[in-house]
Amino acid sequence: MKVLVTGGAGFIGSAVCRYLIEETEHKVVNVDKLTYAANLESVALVADDDRYAFEKADIADREAMDTIFERHQPDAVMHLAAESHVDRSITGAGEFIQTNIVGTFVMLEAARAYWEGLSADRKDAFRFLHVSTDEVYGSLGDEGLFTEETAYDPSSPYSASKAASDHLLTAWQRTYGFPGLISNCSNNYGPYHFPEKLIPLVTLNALEMKTLPVYGDGSNVRDWLYVRDHARALLLILQKGKLGEKYNVGGNNERTNLQVVHAICDTLDDLRPADKPRRNLIEFVTDRPGHDARYAIDSTRLQTELGWKPEENFESGLEKTIRWYLDNETWWRPLREKNYAGERLGLLKTG
Ligand code: NAD
Ligand code: TYD
Repeated sequence: MKVLVTGGAGFIGSAVCRYLIEETEHKVVNVDKLTYAANLESVALVADDDRYAFEKADIADREAMDTIFERHQPDAVMHLAAESHVDRSITGAGEFIQTNIVGTFVMLEAARAYWEGLSADRKDAFRFLHVSTDEVYGSLGDEGLFTEETAYDPSSPYSASKAASDHLLTAWQRTYGFPGLISNCSNNYGPYHFPEKLIPLVTLNALEMKTLPVYGDGSNVRDWLYVRDHARALLLILQKGKLGEKYNVGGNNERTNLQVVHAICDTLDDLRPADKPRRNLIEFVTDRPGHDARYAIDSTRLQTELGWKPEENFESGLEKTIRWYLDNETWWRPLREKNYAGERLGLLKTG
């Protein structure tokens, strides 16, 4: 199968590209605009493989997408390209609307035109997997889990833009019979994660003995999944998922943000002893506007219908991740120096 992966120079997309090339026989066409969040170093391990191709392009550029479909003749699409950081969406929603909504619309139209022109066999086999987030469901209270039936109730400009793109996919499926699938995944972590997100930011700040910003009182809960487990789930959904279905992806690893930050501090204290415990670096800072209290995923459908099971638990995955950052300074140092140095994002001006 030749899979067109959008956003393959980002965190999860690059894990998907590496997984497809390293662990399967499939071919990959990576389509990425290379925004601040992208890094071609994240696909360096597979970039020279004959089964891998890269196209620098904007998913909102219809002409470019038509050309890429025509040139590469993919059998399937895994659509991950997006603006992905909630804090950035709070102070600048425009790019999120443009890429996540308009870009997904353009991808759907380009893919639909291409699909319509395929031979009967190839048309029948074609799949478009739209990769989305559990944040479309909004916030949970202390009890319960998000299921595929949970009503959408997004809180941030980011999650609202992802919710809109999910609705487009469903509409294309119902209206045009377009062979679409949606996955809604919980928070990912792992190697090659851009250091604006909680786990890599805190890891690198803690390594450099800088302050560790915890929003509010640190009691917000996220359900963490190791990125390679997500990549495995996505291929399974693409190949075996029922058309028109949604699949929740999550690893039953609920942690408060403070628990996550403590775990990073303690692991680093073991691996790189310092003159004081890193927990002393924690600083409770102004909360994120519209901060969702709790996310937790019920992935029973994916587990029972498609046989997926995560391989990492949070402790094993976190240690692997921290060791990776210790061993791969050449990957993150230039990003910290040129793209984003760790300053607070997503605060509204007061007064
Ligand atoms: P990321 O920000 O690390 O990477 C996004 C990639 O998309 C970047 O390489 C960027 O250059 C590319 N891109 C952005 N705009 C583009 C455009 N207009 N045209 C082409 N390429 C463009 O994001 P990520 O964390 O890897 O997330 C990937 C996808 O998975 C997103 O759709 C996100 O909503 C979804 N998701 C993320 C998480 C998570 O925890 N990170 C969880 C669930 C779902
Ligand atoms: P983040 O990694 O931005 O992912 P998301 O907002 O998509 O869940 O944040 C994870 C949690 O960590 C979220 O509750 C906000 C919190 N957070 C902090 O407490 N401090 C930080 O510096 C960052 C970036 C996030």
